[in-house]
Amino acid sequence: MSRRHQAHGTASGADEDGIESRDAGLVSSLGRVAQILLRPELKRWRPIMGIALFLTIIAKLIAVVAPLYFGDAVNALSDGSSAVRPAIIGLSLWVGARFLSSGLPYLRDGLFAPVSQDAQRLISVDAFGKAQNLSMRFHLTRRTGALNRIIDRGAGALDFLIRFLAFNIAPTFIELFLAAIVLSVKFGPSLAVVAIATVVAYVMFTLSITEWRVKQRRSMNEKDTQLRASAVDSLTNFETVKSFAAEERETRRYDEFFESYSKTYVSQSRSLAILNAGQELIMNVGLLALALLAAIGVAGGKFGPGDIAAVTLILMNLYRPLNMLGWAWREIKQGGVDLEKMFGLMDQTSDVVDAPDAIVLDKGRGEIAFSEVSFAHDGRSAGLEDVSFKVEAGKKLALVGPSGSGKSTLLKLIFRFFDVSDGTVLFDDIDIRKVTQRSLREKLALVPQDVVLFNTTIRDNILYGRPDASEEDLVKAADQAQLLDFITGLADGWQTRVGERGLKLSGGEKQRVGIARAILKDPEVLLLDEATSALDSTTEADVQDALDKASKGRTTVVVAHRLSTIVDADQILVLENGRIIERGNHEELLTLDGLYAKMWRRQSNNQEMPDGVEK
Ligand SMILES: Nc1ncnc2c1ncn2[C@@H]1O[C@H](COP(=O)(O)OP(=O)(O)OP(=O)(O)O)[C@@H](O)[C@H]1O
Ligand SMILES: [Mg+2]
Repeated sequence: MSRRHQAHGTASGADEDGIESRDAGLVSSLGRVAQILLRPELKRWRPIMGIALFLTIIAKLIAVVAPLYFGDAVNALSDGSSAVRPAIIGLSLWVGARFLSSGLPYLRDGLFAPVSQDAQRLISVDAFGKAQNLSMRFHLTRRTGALNRIIDRGAGALDFLIRFLAFNIAPTFIELFLAAIVLSVKFGPSLAVVAIATVVAYVMFTLSITEWRVKQRRSMNEKDTQLRASAVDSLTNFETVKSFAAEERETRRYDEFFESYSKTYVSQSRSLAILNAGQELIMNVGLLALALLAAIGVAGGKFGPGDIAAVTLILMNLYRPLNMLGWAWREIKQGGVDLEKMFGLMDQTSDVVDAPDAIVLDKGRGEIAFSEVSFAHDGRSAGLEDVSFKVEAGKKLALVGPSGSGKSTLLKLIFRFFDVSDGTVLFDDIDIRKVTQRSLREKLALVPQDVVLFNTTIRDNILYGRPDASEEDLVKAADQAQLLDFITGLADGWQTRVGERGLKLSGGEKQRVGIARAILKDPEVLLLDEATSALDSTTEADVQDALDKASKGRTTVVVAHRLSTIVDADQILVLENGRIIERGNHEELLTLDGLYAKMWRRQSNNQEMPDGVEK
């Protein structure tokens, strides 16, 4: 519970997504990766995984041995001119081994690419499905794009961790081990000890400096975000800035942000310089010690000059991948966090879930009842309180009341987007918590207050109501929603794209797409949340006709501000502050002379009433 609410911008900026993630250690990251790779769905890739690992190790083995051929060749040459043949053989072997040791990893990457892709797809699809199934409440507290980012980064982290841990870092330590064996067998243990000591010192130094730099980097990123966000904010608000003559103030603020960003950038660059210089120092001291040891061996007649060359090459090989250890370590840590986040998402439990023994609603009558229902949104006191009513099958219920009185909330409860805190919502006399969400929602169609569309074509957006609808039904639904003339008049017709969230359509057009979609779905219960509020009165009258037709014989719940649209309702509930304060049909409520009658009088005076409606 509290986890959800602490999401807002803490100073560290650690958790803007509101999903918990630990600062995962190497071991736990490895565990996560293994957990994914061992999943049964990836079973068919096991042999490829084995081959990839085998190729990696072979390549490293060859890399350690290659310099020895070079050393032999140099030794042969320094012996005298008679030794051209062994020198040529040695040099050829050296080049061949070099080629294999750097070529095999490419072969491995090619082989492994589909495995990594499959693993990424597997967990991404898992997480996506999980996100889809999480409750309304969960989605309401997330920023747009945050979930998508978690999934993206998690998948990327998986790929990175496999590549780096399995194919880079781990093999480097295998190489170190092999090099130590080769060195001590060929040149005695003292060289091996120095080589290992150098690498250990190098790694320890790198990791400790990197830990420090990770913190620096975080603060640099924060300053960077701050700088960019404030610049964008100020430039997009140019109108406000100009009208307050605040150009100079804004520029000064930009300068201040830039300055504090620059400071963190400089310390970040300096620490990188310290890191790199220290690494070079350690590596070269080690190299010097080894070269000296080898030189002493040469002087004592124990080794040839080629052996010095071989030792140097072995070490250079060993150090090359270590060069990016600092960077890789940081990325590995980040990868661990990203992966944890993704698993955190998958561990989220929805607060609206199907009961284990949930039943599938059959085709029924379509009757809705609330029994003493109370509900409040998170962190709000107002909501619904003690609401009871019943809409018999085929009847029309209207909800009216001031803005914020809980009308839309009531509709959402019918969908079970939220669970009630008290009382029961019943569909055909069954508590909706006892049926599957899917079968419940299949029986309902909602035209919401703000229709939001997918960024595809008009056709796809309407078809969303029933993807397998026939062409005839589709056209009929559009016609009923008074959309057909509009659609056929468009240059691209049905294929017109509606833009992000439907921004390329007018409010009224969007609303009619929402209506067409609902009509096409042909539900048992139709829920209309001010479905015609954005329409002019002529279009509204036409659409209202269509809605009246569509709701004939069908249970309908209507939220309306314009009372003239609901005079024919079988029952009208007047809500105020989440409570039902009046109920009855139009005549009864007028006779009651309460809030409804007051609203009715006000509206009658302000607008023309359609014919036949009593004033
Ligand atoms: N997701 C939410 N989280 C917190 N509070 C909410 C949420 N949705 C609605 N509310 C609050 O619940 C109350 C009822 O909102 P609701 O949308 O049901 O009102 P309404 O009667 O439909 O109003 P309107 O006529 O303006 O559409 C309001 O006070 C609103 O601020
Ligand atoms: Mg509303």
